Amino acid sequence: MRRRLNGEMSSHPRSDARVGRPEEKVRAVGDRVLSVLGRQSWLDRPGYRLEHALGFALAACGGAGERTSNLLHGTWLGHPLHPLVVALPTGAVAATVALDVASVLPGQQSALREASQVSLGVGIVASLAAATTGLNDWQHTKEQSRRVGLVHGALNAVATALYVLSWCDRRRGRHVRGVAASAVGYGITAASGYLGANLVYRLGIGVDRSGARWDAGEWTPLLAEAALEAGQPQRVEAAGVGLVLLRDGDDVLAVGELCPHLGAPMVDGWLDRGQLVCPWHGSRFDPVTGQVVRGPATAPLPCYQTRIRAGTIEVRPGKPTALRATTGVGE
Ligand code: FES
Repeated sequence: MRRRLNGEMSSHPRSDARVGRPEEKVRAVGDRVLSVLGRQSWLDRPGYRLEHALGFALAACGGAGERTSNLLHGTWLGHPLHPLVVALPTGAVAATVALDVASVLPGQQSALREASQVSLGVGIVASLAAATTGLNDWQHTKEQSRRVGLVHGALNAVATALYVLSWCDRRRGRHVRGVAASAVGYGITAASGYLGANLVYRLGIGVDRSGARWDAGEWTPLLAEAALEAGQPQRVEAAGVGLVLLRDGDDVLAVGELCPHLGAPMVDGWLDRGQLVCPWHGSRFDPVTGQVVRGPATAPLPCYQTRIRAGTIEVRPGKPTALRATTGVGE
């Protein structure tokens, strides 16, 4: 049966395809851009140098570096801080462009020019904040995401340089040149925003990668207690959802199988000073509540209730704090 378009029956099956053509062209251009950028392996060398410089700088600051990194990742927020900060420079420079357009109309010209410059100044400061949070997130990406992210950051750097140039020109009375520089910069910011959106929505940077949750079910026997040794986490499945069981002294813990940051297998993780450590980028989680103790992860790790019955570890969905399994203790 043919589909209806705007309430009317499509007259020919091929007309449906024609309606989608402009969108398909836009998508094809986007795919091509991402694919070409993602293959630029020559970007890896400067990328890794930048990553090492960042890592060195943060490590040199010790505990303060770790707190700063957590702050910039958005570990305290439960999701990445970068998208929230990005709204500030984008909005401020958009206001600059709008005020510049309004300033060519008769009346209030000097007031609009002044407001435009103030707005541009806010945009420059906010751009630096956005760059700091973005760089901190980017350092843990790999391959295609890393290359696209590097171009995204380079475009933003060029745009910010144009905003600074524009601000200086306006201060020196070269208004037209200043307006042109900020308008071009805003165009570059928009192009960079396209790459940033693809990094999040298509390549999954910054989204919770912990996968499916087991959220309904009763106590389910999953593993013989004797099969779980200290320091050797085990992957099990409940209702098709992967879980990881691990021992913490006399306790047995159950967590999701994938790290929320970039999906590392938590079965390869380990406990260190009562915290579960991700094997890829060292995020640390409270293994009982799943809360992030140290980034780059920002979303919590799923955790489950455990108990031991007749030598078997049983697990069920739910907050584990009150029902953490202890060897030989059951309900
Ligand atoms: S995958 Fe990056 S911290 Fe776990």
